[in-house]
Amino acid sequence: MLSVLPVTGNIGAFVEGVDLASEVDETLAEALRQALWTHQVLFFRDQFLDIANLKRVTTRFGPLQRLPYVEAMPDDPDVIGVAKKATDRKVAVFGGNWHSDFSFLGHPPAGSLLTAIEVPEVGGDTVWSNQTAAYETLPDDLKNIVDGRAAIHVGKPHGVKFAPKGRQRSTIKMVRNDPEADRETFHPAVRKHPETGRKSLFLNPVYTARLDGMSEAESAPVLDRLYWHATRPEFCCRHRWQAGDLVIWDNRSTLHFAVNDYDGHDRLLYRTTFSDDHPPRG
Ligand code: SIN
Repeated sequence: MLSVLPVTGNIGAFVEGVDLASEVDETLAEALRQALWTHQVLFFRDQFLDIANLKRVTTRFGPLQRLPYVEAMPDDPDVIGVAKKATDRKVAVFGGNWHSDFSFLGHPPAGSLLTAIEVPEVGGDTVWSNQTAAYETLPDDLKNIVDGRAAIHVGKPHGVKFAPKGRQRSTIKMVRNDPEADRETFHPAVRKHPETGRKSLFLNPVYTARLDGMSEAESAPVLDRLYWHATRPEFCCRHRWQAGDLVIWDNRSTLHFAVNDYDGHDRLLYRTTFSDDHPPRG
């Protein structure tokens, strides 16, 4: 029997009693979608999904979405291998700063899945933060700034910074495969969730360049205060990976952070992304 067990008072739930490698019928899929919209991140142990099953489970949440800049697996453009080897010391890891996925796109992903193939003996956790709770508890002066305002997101500097020219500086290979992704994109700084109707902060420490109507210099101290609030520990949950885990998160109402504290250990996860019919709306 399906059970959904919250891991903190604000975000994340373990889901038990499901075998995702078997057929996920519509009743189960709907229960899982509702659990995801409610808890924002779902953790499943002992699923050991192969790539075909990972993709099949992904499509129960939305159509598979391919992504610019990051090199997908050579035999499958829908899947990214998030890999760090024991020999990869002092390198940046994919996702190693607070971010939501690909917010510089006109229509950013609705959510993502990671399945753990190989995990370090110590470290390599992932942390998520609830941006609905962050918005709802914003001090009034910050709320007055973000309400009704757009923010400008841009992926280009990161594509340039990590593009493969000589030495690889990240655990994921960056490619310049979509010039459209270089454009500046305006999104509401506060977005309404299409499923729950709740409002979340939608700002991205990696991709948000500035707030609309403000220069980068004017935006920077305001964004710093917003990010400090948005990543407070009480809005967060932290996952200690085991091989066979599957994690699904809602990219519209969370930020996440891959903790890079496991030099000397191998870590390999496979990642898919799904889209929705709803570009961000305020
Ligand atoms: C990501 O940002 O998708 C990577 C997360 C992780 O490797 O823990």
